[in-house]
Amino acid sequence: MTLIAAPPAPRPTKTILRALAGETLPVPPIWMMRQAGRYLPEYRATRAQAGDFLKLCYTPDLAAEVTLQPIRRFGFDAAIMFADILLVPQALGSDLWFVTGEGPRLSTITDAAGVAALRPAGSVHDTLAPVYETLRILRRELPAETTLIGFAGAPWTVATYMVAGRGTKDQAPAHAMKQADRAAFAALIDRIGDATVEYLSAQIEAGAEVVKLFDSWAGSLRGQDFDDFAVAPTARIIAALNDRHPGIPVIAFPREAGPRYVGFAAATGADAVALDNGVSAEWAAMNVQRAGPGGCVQGNLDPRHMVTGGPELVDETRRIVRALAGGPHIFNLGHGITPDADPDNVALMIETVRAGG
Ligand code: CP3
Repeated sequence: MTLIAAPPAPRPTKTILRALAGETLPVPPIWMMRQAGRYLPEYRATRAQAGDFLKLCYTPDLAAEVTLQPIRRFGFDAAIMFADILLVPQALGSDLWFVTGEGPRLSTITDAAGVAALRPAGSVHDTLAPVYETLRILRRELPAETTLIGFAGAPWTVATYMVAGRGTKDQAPAHAMKQADRAAFAALIDRIGDATVEYLSAQIEAGAEVVKLFDSWAGSLRGQDFDDFAVAPTARIIAALNDRHPGIPVIAFPREAGPRYVGFAAATGADAVALDNGVSAEWAAMNVQRAGPGGCVQGNLDPRHMVTGGPELVDETRRIVRALAGGPHIFNLGHGITPDADPDNVALMIETVRAGG
């Protein structure tokens, strides 16, 4: 019997995919969290046309349009599909609506009966099919060099909204349910995790080339809770995706994880970790970034510079580019751009990064 070695995977050519594969590039590729959003007049116009935010998420032509707007205006290296992490709870059976000026509202889940009443993970496609159509449109319309990113919320962050029925400062309702009935809370995390695997797999099949898991509230988990509800569910999702779709990189964003950023990629199998602006780029270069696969970091300019601009924006951008130049790096903000940001400051950030920092 002759054994023939599998041919090596072709080397990616898009800059974001090269960085995620562990390559150190002379200029870091760049995209921006919430790059499609209210700071852009063209977004506000399309959103007005859609009528409301959820309608925008579920209308593929309009969702694709707002995804493309920042690509046309700024030429980012990646487009992130337009949707929201709270579509998954809705697909699992939670009621969801957005109150203008306040944010999301959901029906609440507080006990084992509430978890048991959720729909099965495999049924999420019934609700989420328009998102897959958005991705198919984007794959046709994006420039050849632009990477298409899909995403979902990580189970802990999604659970905090499902339990509280809204955003909270300290995620107290989710912590309370976790303490009152850890098994029921773990079942909720598992159900969200299963749904997330289904959702991200379908996104990849529809054309997503990278997926990102947003764990915006990871920083409120401590000790064993961080291992059980941030690390373990993320690791389980990534293992299932690697199994179904080998070669599709995953970016994990355990926001405000602080020292728990160290080893997070290795513990979860993530190809990159996104850094919030609470950690310094110099610290991350020493403690988080590694040469080669799994060592890529993304981040981490404070989004307030998109509001304030000026020499501070240029200095901070340069500092981050230089601090992380020794390894694989994707330039980004440390959190989403805010509605009061000035698009000219975004252009200045990109110009500074592309000038080599
Ligand atoms: O980054 C992108 O451009 C892609 C689209 C995207 C949105 N939300 C669009 C959005 C992504 C990736 C998200 C993720 C998301 N949504 C997170 C995780 C990231 C983070 O910011 O920490 C969270 C926690 C949510 C939940 C959510 N959605 C909240 C709390 C709110 C209200 C707050 C606000 O900014 O108004 C939203 C609404 C939302 N999602 C908007 C956008 C553009 C604003 C809605 C509008 O146009 O009125």
